Amino acid sequence: MSNTDRRPLGNSGFEIAPVALGCWPIAGVTTLGTNDADSLATIRACFDLGINHLDTAYVYGPNGESEMLIRKAIEGRRDEMVIATKGGIHFEGDKMAGDARPETLHRECEESLRRLGTDRVELYYLHSPDEVTPIEQSAAAIRELIEAGKVRSAGLCNASLEQIQAFHSVCPLAAVQLPYNMLQRGIEQETMPWCGEQGVAVMVYWVLMKGLLAGKLPRDYQFDPADSRLKYPMYQGDEWQRNQDLVDRLREIADSAGWSVPQLVTAWTLAQSGVTAALCGAKRPDQIRESAAALDVELTGVQLAEIDQALAERGEAVSNRNFK
Ligand SMILES: NC(=O)c1ccc[n+]([C@@H]2O[C@H](COP(=O)([O-])OP(=O)(O)OC[C@H]3O[C@@H](n4cnc5c(N)ncnc54)[C@H](OP(=O)(O)O)[C@@H]3O)[C@@H](O)[C@H]2O)c1
Repeated sequence: MSNTDRRPLGNSGFEIAPVALGCWPIAGVTTLGTNDADSLATIRACFDLGINHLDTAYVYGPNGESEMLIRKAIEGRRDEMVIATKGGIHFEGDKMAGDARPETLHRECEESLRRLGTDRVELYYLHSPDEVTPIEQSAAAIRELIEAGKVRSAGLCNASLEQIQAFHSVCPLAAVQLPYNMLQRGIEQETMPWCGEQGVAVMVYWVLMKGLLAGKLPRDYQFDPADSRLKYPMYQGDEWQRNQDLVDRLREIADSAGWSVPQLVTAWTLAQSGVTAALCGAKRPDQIRESAAALDVELTGVQLAEIDQALAERGEAVSNRNFK
Protein backbone atom coordinates (compact mmCIF):
# COMPACT_ATOMS: atom_id res chain seq x y z
CA MET A 1 0.00 0.00 0.00
CA SER A 2 1.35 3.41 -0.90
CA ASN A 3 1.64 6.15 1.70
CA THR A 4 -0.66 8.37 -0.33
CA ASP A 5 -3.49 5.82 -0.08
CA ARG A 6 -6.05 6.18 2.65
CA ARG A 7 -6.05 3.17 4.94
CA PRO A 8 -9.09 1.53 6.58
CA LEU A 9 -9.56 2.42 10.23
CA GLY A 10 -10.12 -1.21 11.17
CA ASN A 11 -13.71 -2.28 10.64
CA SER A 12 -15.12 1.21 11.26
CA GLY A 13 -15.87 2.01 7.63
CA PHE A 14 -13.72 5.18 7.88
CA GLU A 15 -10.52 5.68 5.95
CA ILE A 16 -7.62 7.79 7.10
CA ALA A 17 -4.33 9.08 5.80
CA PRO A 18 -1.49 7.10 7.40
CA VAL A 19 -0.11 10.26 9.03
CA ALA A 20 -2.44 11.68 11.69
CA LEU A 21 -2.06 14.74 13.92
CA GLY A 22 -1.44 13.91 17.57
CA CYS A 23 -3.07 16.70 19.57
CA TRP A 24 -1.31 16.21 22.91
CA PRO A 25 1.44 18.84 22.44
CA ILE A 26 -1.11 21.61 21.80
CA ALA A 27 -2.62 20.93 25.23
CA GLY A 28 0.50 22.65 26.56
CA VAL A 29 0.88 20.36 29.55
CA THR A 30 4.26 18.74 28.96
CA THR A 31 5.21 20.58 25.79
CA LEU A 32 6.87 23.92 26.43
CA GLY A 33 6.24 27.02 24.35
CA THR A 34 2.77 26.35 22.98
CA ASN A 35 0.35 29.12 22.05
CA ASP A 36 -3.16 29.13 20.60
CA ALA A 37 -2.22 30.79 17.30
CA ASP A 38 0.37 28.10 16.49
CA SER A 39 -1.91 25.33 17.73
CA LEU A 40 -4.81 26.45 15.54
CA ALA A 41 -2.50 26.86 12.55
CA THR A 42 -1.11 23.36 13.15
CA ILE A 43 -4.55 21.77 13.10
CA ARG A 44 -5.65 23.82 10.09
CA ALA A 45 -2.49 22.87 8.19
CA CYS A 46 -3.80 19.30 8.15
CA PHE A 47 -6.47 20.16 5.57
CA ASP A 48 -3.81 21.12 3.02
CA LEU A 49 -1.47 18.28 3.93
CA GLY A 50 -4.06 15.56 3.28
CA ILE A 51 -4.27 14.64 6.96
CA ASN A 52 -7.86 13.77 7.89
CA HIS A 53 -7.40 12.21 11.32
CA LEU A 54 -7.03 14.09 14.61
CA ASP A 55 -6.16 12.27 17.82
CA THR A 56 -7.08 13.90 21.11
CA ALA A 57 -8.35 12.93 24.57
CA TYR A 58 -10.49 14.10 27.47
CA VAL A 59 -7.30 14.59 29.49
CA TYR A 60 -5.36 16.56 26.85
CA GLY A 61 -5.31 19.70 28.95
CA PRO A 62 -6.70 20.10 32.46
CA ASN A 63 -9.81 21.74 30.98
CA GLY A 64 -9.93 19.94 27.65
CA GLU A 65 -7.79 22.57 25.92
CA SER A 66 -6.88 20.24 23.04
CA GLU A 67 -10.49 19.31 22.25
CA MET A 68 -11.58 22.95 22.41
CA LEU A 69 -8.80 24.06 20.05
CA ILE A 70 -9.87 21.37 17.59
CA ARG A 71 -13.44 22.65 17.69
CA LYS A 72 -12.26 26.14 16.85
CA ALA A 73 -9.77 25.10 14.18
CA ILE A 74 -12.11 22.90 12.17
CA GLU A 75 -15.25 25.01 12.47
CA GLY A 76 -17.27 24.63 9.28
CA ARG A 77 -15.14 21.68 8.11
CA ARG A 78 -15.82 19.15 10.85
CA ASP A 79 -17.12 16.50 8.44
CA GLU A 80 -13.74 16.39 6.66
CA MET A 81 -12.07 15.05 9.81
CA VAL A 82 -12.11 11.63 11.41
CA ILE A 83 -11.88 12.55 15.09
CA ALA A 84 -10.66 10.23 17.81
CA THR A 85 -10.89 11.08 21.46
CA LYS A 86 -10.39 9.05 24.62
CA GLY A 87 -11.84 8.68 28.08
CA GLY A 88 -10.70 7.05 31.29
CA ILE A 89 -7.94 9.43 32.42
CA HIS A 90 -8.56 12.82 34.00
CA PHE A 91 -6.70 15.50 35.91
CA GLU A 92 -6.76 15.62 39.69
CA GLY A 93 -4.99 18.85 40.53
CA ASP A 94 -1.87 18.78 38.37
CA LYS A 95 -1.66 14.97 38.25
CA MET A 96 -3.38 12.53 35.93
CA ALA A 97 -5.52 9.75 37.36
CA GLY A 98 -7.19 6.74 35.78
CA ASP A 99 -10.88 5.95 36.13
CA ALA A 100 -12.28 3.55 33.54
CA ARG A 101 -15.63 2.91 35.21
CA PRO A 102 -18.61 2.86 32.84
CA GLU A 103 -20.31 5.88 34.40
CA THR A 104 -17.09 7.89 34.10
CA LEU A 105 -16.67 6.98 30.44
CA HIS A 106 -20.28 8.00 29.72
CA ARG A 107 -19.79 11.35 31.48
CA GLU A 108 -16.41 12.09 29.93
CA CYS A 109 -17.65 11.20 26.45
CA GLU A 110 -20.55 13.67 26.81
CA GLU A 111 -18.13 16.36 27.90
CA SER A 112 -15.70 15.62 25.08
CA LEU A 113 -18.52 15.91 22.52
CA ARG A 114 -19.50 19.25 24.04
CA ARG A 115 -15.94 20.57 23.93
CA LEU A 116 -15.48 19.34 20.36
CA GLY A 117 -18.80 20.87 19.33
CA THR A 118 -20.00 17.68 17.69
CA ASP A 119 -22.70 15.09 18.20
CA ARG A 120 -20.42 12.10 17.60
CA VAL A 121 -16.81 11.06 17.27
CA GLU A 122 -15.64 8.53 14.73
CA LEU A 123 -13.43 6.70 17.23
CA TYR A 124 -13.55 6.57 21.02
CA TYR A 125 -10.73 4.93 22.94
CA LEU A 126 -10.47 3.71 26.48
CA HIS A 127 -7.33 5.72 27.27
CA SER A 128 -5.98 3.10 29.64
CA PRO A 129 -7.41 0.24 31.65
CA ASP A 130 -7.47 1.24 35.33
CA GLU A 131 -6.35 -1.00 38.15
CA VAL A 132 -9.76 -1.93 39.50
CA THR A 133 -12.39 -1.80 36.77
CA PRO A 134 -12.70 -5.09 34.84
CA ILE A 135 -11.87 -4.17 31.26
CA GLU A 136 -15.03 -5.92 30.06
CA GLN A 137 -17.06 -3.29 31.94
CA SER A 138 -15.22 -0.43 30.26
CA ALA A 139 -15.70 -2.15 26.89
CA ALA A 140 -19.44 -2.56 27.55
CA ALA A 141 -19.68 1.17 28.26
CA ILE A 142 -18.09 2.03 24.93
CA ARG A 143 -20.39 -0.45 23.20
CA GLU A 144 -23.33 1.45 24.74
CA LEU A 145 -21.90 4.73 23.45
CA ILE A 146 -21.77 3.20 19.96
CA GLU A 147 -25.37 1.97 20.30
CA ALA A 148 -26.39 5.50 21.34
CA GLY A 149 -24.77 6.92 18.17
CA LYS A 150 -22.35 9.12 20.12
CA VAL A 151 -19.37 7.10 19.05
CA ARG A 152 -18.92 5.35 15.71
CA SER A 153 -16.22 2.84 16.64
CA ALA A 154 -14.19 1.60 19.59
CA GLY A 155 -10.51 1.79 20.45
CA LEU A 156 -8.19 0.81 23.27
CA CYS A 157 -4.85 2.34 24.27
CA ASN A 158 -2.01 1.21 26.48
CA ALA A 159 -3.15 -2.37 26.98
CA SER A 160 -1.58 -5.81 26.86
CA LEU A 161 -2.67 -8.28 24.20
CA GLU A 162 -4.67 -10.15 26.83
CA GLN A 163 -6.55 -6.96 27.73
CA ILE A 164 -7.07 -6.15 24.06
CA GLN A 165 -8.59 -9.58 23.48
CA ALA A 166 -10.85 -9.29 26.53
CA PHE A 167 -12.10 -5.87 25.37
CA HIS A 168 -12.60 -7.09 21.79
CA SER A 169 -14.75 -10.01 22.97
CA VAL A 170 -17.26 -7.53 24.48
CA CYS A 171 -16.94 -4.62 22.07
CA PRO A 172 -15.21 -5.27 18.72
CA LEU A 173 -12.27 -2.93 18.34
CA ALA A 174 -11.60 -0.78 15.29
CA ALA A 175 -8.21 0.32 16.60
CA VAL A 176 -5.60 -0.02 19.29
CA GLN A 177 -3.13 2.74 20.16
CA LEU A 178 0.32 1.91 21.48
CA PRO A 179 3.84 3.34 21.63
CA TYR A 180 6.06 2.30 18.73
CA ASN A 181 9.13 3.72 17.08
CA MET A 182 12.55 2.65 15.79
CA LEU A 183 13.77 2.22 19.36
CA GLN A 184 10.66 0.70 20.85
CA ARG A 185 9.34 -2.23 18.85
CA GLY A 186 7.90 -4.62 21.46
CA ILE A 187 4.42 -4.76 19.89
CA GLU A 188 5.81 -6.38 16.76
CA GLN A 189 6.00 -9.64 18.71
CA GLU A 190 2.38 -10.42 19.57
CA THR A 191 0.00 -7.50 19.33
CA MET A 192 0.62 -6.40 15.75
CA PRO A 193 0.20 -9.90 14.29
CA TRP A 194 -3.00 -10.48 16.26
CA CYS A 195 -4.44 -7.11 15.20
CA GLY A 196 -3.52 -7.86 11.59
CA GLU A 197 -5.43 -11.15 11.74
CA GLN A 198 -8.47 -9.50 13.32
CA GLY A 199 -8.53 -6.43 11.08
CA VAL A 200 -7.91 -4.10 14.03
CA ALA A 201 -6.02 -0.92 13.08
CA VAL A 202 -2.73 -0.27 14.88
CA MET A 203 -2.24 3.43 15.58
CA VAL A 204 1.23 4.16 16.89
CA TYR A 205 2.44 7.04 19.02
CA TRP A 206 5.86 8.42 19.93
CA VAL A 207 7.00 7.94 16.34
CA LEU A 208 9.58 10.72 16.90
CA MET A 209 10.01 9.77 20.56
CA LYS A 210 8.88 13.25 21.54
CA GLY A 211 11.44 14.95 19.33
CA LEU A 212 14.49 12.73 19.91
CA LEU A 213 14.04 11.07 16.49
CA ALA A 214 13.32 14.41 14.79
CA GLY A 215 17.07 14.96 14.83
CA LYS A 216 16.93 18.56 15.99
CA LEU A 217 18.01 18.20 19.58
CA PRO A 218 21.80 18.48 19.54
CA ARG A 219 23.84 16.07 21.64
CA ASP A 220 24.67 18.88 24.09
CA TYR A 221 21.12 20.28 24.14
CA GLN A 222 20.47 22.10 27.42
CA PHE A 223 17.07 20.86 28.51
CA ASP A 224 14.92 23.22 30.53
CA PRO A 225 14.65 21.54 33.96
CA ALA A 226 10.84 21.69 33.47
CA ASP A 227 11.13 19.63 30.26
CA SER A 228 9.28 16.41 31.05
CA ARG A 229 11.26 14.46 28.47
CA LEU A 230 14.14 14.25 30.90
CA LYS A 231 12.27 11.56 32.81
CA TYR A 232 12.47 9.12 29.90
CA PRO A 233 15.45 6.72 29.88
CA MET A 234 15.94 7.43 26.17
CA TYR A 235 16.86 11.01 27.09
CA GLN A 236 19.32 10.04 29.82
CA GLY A 237 23.04 9.25 30.11
CA ASP A 238 24.50 6.58 27.85
CA GLU A 239 21.11 5.89 26.23
CA TRP A 240 20.97 9.52 25.09
CA GLN A 241 24.47 9.30 23.58
CA ARG A 242 23.73 6.04 21.76
CA ASN A 243 20.45 7.43 20.47
CA GLN A 244 22.29 10.48 19.19
CA ASP A 245 24.71 8.15 17.35
CA LEU A 246 21.68 6.55 15.71
CA VAL A 247 20.22 9.95 14.79
CA ASP A 248 23.57 10.87 13.17
CA ARG A 249 23.29 7.76 10.96
CA LEU A 250 19.67 8.53 10.14
CA ARG A 251 20.65 12.06 9.18
CA GLU A 252 23.20 10.70 6.69
CA ILE A 253 20.58 8.44 5.12
CA ALA A 254 18.01 11.26 5.04
CA ASP A 255 20.52 13.76 3.61
CA SER A 256 21.50 11.45 0.78
CA ALA A 257 17.83 11.23 -0.25
CA GLY A 258 17.26 14.97 0.20
CA TRP A 259 14.78 14.32 3.02
CA SER A 260 14.47 15.58 6.58
CA VAL A 261 15.04 13.21 9.51
CA PRO A 262 11.35 13.35 10.66
CA GLN A 263 10.33 12.54 7.09
CA LEU A 264 12.64 9.51 6.99
CA VAL A 265 11.65 8.27 10.44
CA THR A 266 7.93 8.65 9.75
CA ALA A 267 8.28 6.98 6.34
CA TRP A 268 10.09 4.06 8.01
CA THR A 269 7.22 3.76 10.50
CA LEU A 270 4.64 3.69 7.73
CA ALA A 271 6.65 1.02 5.94
CA GLN A 272 6.29 -1.41 8.85
CA SER A 273 3.63 -3.91 7.84
CA GLY A 274 1.76 -3.92 11.15
CA VAL A 275 1.32 -0.15 11.34
CA THR A 276 -1.92 1.46 10.13
CA ALA A 277 -1.11 5.08 10.98
CA ALA A 278 1.51 7.19 12.69
CA LEU A 279 0.14 9.66 15.23
CA CYS A 280 2.53 12.57 14.87
CA GLY A 281 2.49 15.13 17.63
CA ALA A 282 3.18 18.75 16.70
CA LYS A 283 2.79 22.20 18.19
CA ARG A 284 3.64 24.18 15.04
CA PRO A 285 2.65 23.80 11.37
CA ASP A 286 6.25 23.30 10.21
CA GLN A 287 6.51 20.23 12.44
CA ILE A 288 3.44 18.44 11.11
CA ARG A 289 4.47 19.46 7.59
CA GLU A 290 7.78 17.61 8.00
CA SER A 291 6.09 14.48 9.29
CA ALA A 292 3.41 14.66 6.59
CA ALA A 293 6.17 14.80 3.96
CA ALA A 294 6.51 11.06 4.67
CA LEU A 295 3.26 10.65 2.75
CA ASP A 296 5.08 11.66 -0.44
CA VAL A 297 7.99 9.25 -0.23
CA GLU A 298 8.62 5.55 -0.04
CA LEU A 299 11.81 4.01 1.23
CA THR A 300 13.80 1.88 -1.16
CA GLY A 301 15.06 -1.58 -0.20
CA VAL A 302 18.56 -0.09 0.07
CA GLN A 303 17.42 2.62 2.47
CA LEU A 304 15.50 0.11 4.58
CA ALA A 305 18.61 -2.08 4.76
CA GLU A 306 20.75 0.90 5.78
CA ILE A 307 18.29 1.75 8.56
CA ASP A 308 18.22 -1.89 9.70
CA GLN A 309 22.01 -1.80 9.87
CA ALA A 310 21.97 1.44 11.88
CA LEU A 311 19.42 -0.03 14.29
CA ALA A 312 21.45 -3.22 14.65
CA GLU A 313 24.52 -1.11 15.51
CA ARG A 314 22.46 0.87 18.03
CA GLY A 315 21.36 -2.37 19.75
CA GLU A 316 18.38 -2.70 22.05
CA ALA A 317 17.25 0.53 23.68
CA VAL A 318 15.76 0.96 27.13
CA SER A 319 12.06 1.31 26.39
CA ASN A 320 9.86 3.94 27.95
CA ARG A 321 6.67 1.87 28.10
CA ASN A 322 6.68 -1.83 27.45
CA PHE A 323 3.99 -3.53 25.44
CA LYS A 324 4.46 -6.71 23.42
N1 LIG B 1 -2.78 6.94 24.09
C1 LIG B 1 -1.77 7.43 24.78
O1 LIG B 1 -1.59 7.14 25.98
C2 LIG B 1 -0.81 8.34 24.10
C3 LIG B 1 0.43 8.62 24.68
C4 LIG B 1 1.29 9.47 24.00
C5 LIG B 1 0.91 10.02 22.79
N2 LIG B 1 -0.32 9.77 22.25
C6 LIG B 1 -0.78 10.36 20.96
O2 LIG B 1 0.25 10.28 20.04
C7 LIG B 1 0.65 11.60 19.64
C8 LIG B 1 2.15 11.62 19.41
O3 LIG B 1 2.86 11.56 20.63
P1 LIG B 1 3.67 12.81 21.22
O4 LIG B 1 3.06 14.03 20.67
O5 LIG B 1 3.72 12.63 22.67
O6 LIG B 1 5.14 12.54 20.68
P2 LIG B 1 5.87 12.53 19.26
O7 LIG B 1 4.93 12.57 18.13
O8 LIG B 1 6.88 11.46 19.32
O9 LIG B 1 6.68 13.90 19.36
C9 LIG B 1 6.05 15.15 19.23
C10 LIG B 1 7.06 16.23 19.56
O10 LIG B 1 8.19 16.07 18.73
C11 LIG B 1 8.67 17.35 18.36
N3 LIG B 1 8.56 17.43 16.89
C12 LIG B 1 7.56 17.03 16.11
N4 LIG B 1 7.84 17.27 14.82
C13 LIG B 1 9.05 17.83 14.81
C14 LIG B 1 9.87 18.33 13.80
N5 LIG B 1 9.51 18.26 12.53
N6 LIG B 1 11.06 18.85 14.15
C15 LIG B 1 11.43 18.91 15.43
N7 LIG B 1 10.69 18.47 16.44
C16 LIG B 1 9.50 17.94 16.13
C17 LIG B 1 7.81 18.39 19.03
O11 LIG B 1 8.39 18.68 20.32
P3 LIG B 1 9.11 20.08 20.65
O12 LIG B 1 8.69 21.06 19.63
O13 LIG B 1 8.60 20.41 22.01
O14 LIG B 1 10.58 19.76 20.62
C18 LIG B 1 6.53 17.61 19.25
O15 LIG B 1 5.77 18.12 20.32
C19 LIG B 1 0.17 12.50 20.77
O16 LIG B 1 0.07 13.84 20.36
C20 LIG B 1 -1.12 11.85 21.11
O17 LIG B 1 -2.12 12.20 20.16
C21 LIG B 1 -1.16 8.92 22.88
